[in-house]
Amino acid sequence: MKKLMAANWKMYKNQNEAEDTVNELCKLLQNTDKNDREALIFAPFTCIAKAHAAIKNSVPLSIGAQNFYPAKDGAFTGEISAHMLREIQAAWVLVGHSERRSVFNESLQLVEEKLLFALNEGFKVVFCVGESLEEREAGKLQQVLETQLQSLQHISKDINTEHVAVAYEPVWAIGTGKVAGPDEIVEAHAMVREALIKNMGSKGAETRILYGGSVKPDNAANIIKLDNEDGVLVGGASLQAESFAQIVLA
Ligand code: PGA
Repeated sequence: MKKLMAANWKMYKNQNEAEDTVNELCKLLQNTDKNDREALIFAPFTCIAKAHAAIKNSVPLSIGAQNFYPAKDGAFTGEISAHMLREIQAAWVLVGHSERRSVFNESLQLVEEKLLFALNEGFKVVFCVGESLEEREAGKLQQVLETQLQSLQHISKDINTEHVAVAYEPVWAIGTGKVAGPDEIVEAHAMVREALIKNMGSKGAETRILYGGSVKPDNAANIIKLDNEDGVLVGGASLQAESFAQIVLA
């Protein structure tokens, strides 16, 4: 399976900036010999349609949404449904990002509901897990990952493993410039792999595991070659086309 190189634009960019960035990115990703890479951008809602329309046919790039509410429709003021996202060509959704868990108080239960709802609706999902600094210092890394990954036991046994990827993002490395070291990434990804196999059987052995947290053009190549490393999820360094292209092709 291809390495999944994902961008999370968070709450940045207007529509024109998004279109310009995708245009530039497509130029940079066209005609490369790295055929084992698949790129993905989690764009703000208002940028999804324009970003998608700007993709050149030959470039393996998809657009996803950073959030949605797990209900078909209803009285949910301010929320957006999976159906609305499909209409504007979002193919992927991000679930369980630490900013959603901490800033917006998304519970384990809500995160699980979103995971199952999105997969049932035919979306592909990047499912984020990761420990806070306090949890790491208290020796709770494995426990936190196991708890967060338990939701995967409820997904269909027939899941197409190209449709779900787990992003291990230590909370202390997100937006801090403090990237996890290779040993820390390998250790955590081994724990994630073990939990995936426990919860998903043989499908868990194939599911892609991404690393996220201060990935930059100068550290991406070293990260991507580690064991159990099938891609990255990039925030800050994904906003500029050139910087993200360097990461995608690292
Ligand atoms: P960062 O963000 O690359 O800016 O650390 C990663 C993320 O939030 O997914």
